[in-house]
Amino acid sequence: MIVCKSPAEIERMRASNGLVAQVLAELAAMVAPGVSTLDLDAAAEKSVRAAGAEPAFKGYRGYPATLCASVNDQVVHGIPSKRPLASGDIVSLDMGVKLNGFYGDSAVTVAVGQVADEVKTLLRVTEEALEKGISQVRVGGRISDIGHAIQKHVEAHGFTVVREFVGHGIGAALHEEPQIANYGEPGRGPRLAEGMTLAIEPMVNMGKPSVKVLADGWTAVTRDGSLSAHFEHTVAVTKNGPLVMTLRPTPVG
Ligand code: MF3
Ligand code: CO
Repeated sequence: MIVCKSPAEIERMRASNGLVAQVLAELAAMVAPGVSTLDLDAAAEKSVRAAGAEPAFKGYRGYPATLCASVNDQVVHGIPSKRPLASGDIVSLDMGVKLNGFYGDSAVTVAVGQVADEVKTLLRVTEEALEKGISQVRVGGRISDIGHAIQKHVEAHGFTVVREFVGHGIGAALHEEPQIANYGEPGRGPRLAEGMTLAIEPMVNMGKPSVKVLADGWTAVTRDGSLSAHFEHTVAVTKNGPLVMTLRPTPVG
């Protein structure tokens, strides 16, 4: 069952998602050579709690941190560590919060210092793919239209879409129905209706699409060691089209 939110609930989701966006912008501005992902995690938790919210991931199925920080060939669910970021790295910052009973969830991938042009292209194409997916959000459309648009854009640029992880409905729970694959045929799955709230999150690899999970039980990495990027927005379906609730106040990257 897909839970549709009332206008009052959407307002509350705008608050939790707005907080996620604000904290991600703050973290992205901190990213630099020498900064560790554990430093970013500490800043994230402090800002989330200062706003009267709770980290959504910490304790979720035993996940140990506020932030998922996935570096280079790490695809998603990287656990913050003491290792300093270095120029040429890329890092995906993925964070969720719970505020006033509703969850927010978003992710952005940023370059550390100077990165190669093809790496900049990977980041740009992944963010564009998210935008193409979001542009399919309309009352009466179908869930699979989103993933189809994402896959088409990614593959047109010679990159690949991860199959093992998907986007999701979100609301009073972090993960609600429906699942939102980042690939597939259009015109399949449930129809989009007013009040649905969706976390759309393409994961894009520079090399082959397959991934594996490390022995820590969380960190997903590309099997071929190629770089991977991840962008996520939480979006409400409205009569007027998509309402992106995690727009960052300041541009990143
Ligand atoms: N954005 C991811 C998701 O929605 C991150 C979840 S991390 C976890 O699934 F720790 F909460 F699992
Ligand atoms: Co998510």
